[in-house]
Amino acid sequence: MTDPQPPQSVDLGLDQPNAARMYDYYLGGSHNFAQDREAAQSLVRVAPGIITAARGNRSFLHRAVCAAAAEGIDQFLDLGSGIPTVGNVHDIARGVNPEARVVYVDCDPVAVTHARVLVAGDDRVGVVHADLRDVAVVLEDPTTVGLLDFTRPVAVLMVAVLHFIAGDVTNVVARYRQILAPDSLLVLSHGTPDHPPAQRDAAAAVAEVYTRTPTPVCLRTRAEISRLFGDFELLTPGLVAVDQWRPEPGIQPDPDLCGFLAGVGIQRRASHRSRPTGGNRAPQRISPRKGGPRPTL
Ligand SMILES: C[S@@+](CC[C@H](N)C(=O)[O-])C[C@H]1O[C@@H](n2cnc3c(N)ncnc32)[C@H](O)[C@@H]1O
Repeated sequence: MTDPQPPQSVDLGLDQPNAARMYDYYLGGSHNFAQDREAAQSLVRVAPGIITAARGNRSFLHRAVCAAAAEGIDQFLDLGSGIPTVGNVHDIARGVNPEARVVYVDCDPVAVTHARVLVAGDDRVGVVHADLRDVAVVLEDPTTVGLLDFTRPVAVLMVAVLHFIAGDVTNVVARYRQILAPDSLLVLSHGTPDHPPAQRDAAAAVAEVYTRTPTPVCLRTRAEISRLFGDFELLTPGLVAVDQWRPEPGIQPDPDLCGFLAGVGIQRRASHRSRPTGGNRAPQRISPRKGGPRPTL
């Protein structure tokens, strides 16, 4: 395979494999480089289920965004959005509501560069290059401020990203939750070490390969993942394997996916804080937008 041509002026970190580009490889994309393919292929040899897991995760994202848009959510903040691939959030959401607005956030320059090319000229989609842990940077970026109105429901997506962040992410997730209006959603998927014994070797192999990337895998237990939803109410069917979140009819549980949990939480509170914690200024609305229908999820 010929490597895609990276832009000249940006340090893309091509000297080591990287999670965004390895994920692109698992999904069959072409925005990956030799280092990424070697690491991904070595992983597929010891844990072939990784490809099923990546595709199952992406299908979950698709179903969750469809469900959110179908219920009237027309604003999406996609944190750790990855390299654009088939079925990006704005494409999915606009299949339901052509007015949907999306802000993509990723810390990987390759993901950001490709996303910016993809959405250039689209005034309802923006891309922010940031670490999602820098909550104020994400929320105060002019792109976020200009596109998203946090006084109305927003779906915040943290899909297959938090397990690349070591340490306590609870406060980070809480800061996003706290600025959300009632009926907002938190869409989350996350790897867990709660595997059946037969899969533990594969899980260990996955973890070992990712130690060669800038973002080693940090799995969390079901209880730890549940806590990330805070006081948000989990929508039916709760926190389940990615392929079991509102699956298409006839889909049977895949054992390769039992270590990958997904859920969607809803903000049911009647009142919410309009400012992020830590003294950060809440995003300002730049242009008035029409209110969409109230979700009834
Ligand atoms: C496996 S991909 C998931 C992409 C997409 N969310 C999905 O589920 O299809 C993980 C993405 O998270 C990004 N990422 C990892 N740590 C991040 C951080 N601290 N802030 C922002 N993005 C991050 C990576 O660059 C990568 O693009």
